[in-house]
Amino acid sequence: MTDFRSDLEAIRRSARERLDVAATAAEVETLRHELLGRSGSLTTLLRSLGSAAPEERPALGKAANEVRVEIEAAIGERLAALSGADLEARLASEAMDMSAPGRPIRVGHLHPIHTLMRDLREIFHAYGFEVFEGPEVETEEYNFELLNIPPDHPARDLWDTLYVAEPDSVEAGASRPADDGTILRTHTSPTQLRAMHALDAPIRVLTPGRCFRYEAVDASHGFEFFQIEGLVVDRDTSLADLKGMLEEVARALYGRDVATRFRPGYYPFTEPSVAFDIGCLVCGGSGCPACHRSGWMTILGAGMVHPNVLRDGGFDPDEYQGYAFGMGMDRMTMLRHGIGDIRLLFTGDLRFVTQFTEGR
Ligand code: PHE
Repeated sequence: MTDFRSDLEAIRRSARERLDVAATAAEVETLRHELLGRSGSLTTLLRSLGSAAPEERPALGKAANEVRVEIEAAIGERLAALSGADLEARLASEAMDMSAPGRPIRVGHLHPIHTLMRDLREIFHAYGFEVFEGPEVETEEYNFELLNIPPDHPARDLWDTLYVAEPDSVEAGASRPADDGTILRTHTSPTQLRAMHALDAPIRVLTPGRCFRYEAVDASHGFEFFQIEGLVVDRDTSLADLKGMLEEVARALYGRDVATRFRPGYYPFTEPSVAFDIGCLVCGGSGCPACHRSGWMTILGAGMVHPNVLRDGGFDPDEYQGYAFGMGMDRMTMLRHGIGDIRLLFTGDLRFVTQFTEGR
């Protein structure tokens, strides 16, 4: 059976050669079929073993088996190499350049009024103030009566109030104010009472929020605007505390060199009342259109809490004093950024608001 051995060697060599040049997994599978399949060349050769001399059979069978094992191993290796090559070809064709700069993502930021509110919250936090919020839809009682402004008192004319209408009357085409005196708050001062009713002394609260007035809208008046109210109720507090603190706040906000002054003012819910001015940031105090040629700009009203208001809040004015202040956020924002028209703050025009990113 020398033919058997030479046939076996021929199959082995040809299998090796063809495997080496097989370029795809499919080619390898075809080859496997041609060699080891039911009518494959090696299978056919093995079948012919029956016609070999019995004493030669075991040695020939062993040799054929070794070739089969060798070919199977070679097929496995070739398939592994090809799938590695496939992967590399795919990686090369689908490669992306991870070092290419990405498209910039547009990041939003706070509105300049809110940036100012945050700054003020932080500054007042250092003085022990906590934020205490109140509703935007208020009652006349909290907005006026409890603040020492009785019904029909002429002081109400200081606040051009928007009344919330009776729903039925709106449907009927008219708009009668709601019987329960529901209004949009004209200032944040009603939260003075809400805080006094909710908290025990000593009270140190800060109320940022939106307010509404029936105003003819122009460059310096809006029908909605923002205030920050501050209230302190304690046993030993005086106008000197208020003055010292507000001067420090102005410096923290507008720089150490900012000029400040207090003027007498009038509010029904504080006695005495003051207005607090800073030196005009536009002209530096020499007088310009922005400060109506006075060199000063008013940023807040303040004063010692009126005894009647302390009583309305449930505190004995012989035992407790307090001071309160209310700042106009819109005006302060305009001063901070040199904005000439309050209406710009409410347009939502991105070309306007995106100018005030300041890294926030
Ligand atoms: N509420 C007043 C206003 O809107 C401002 C103010 C607040 C004055 C607190 C004194 C004390 O004009």
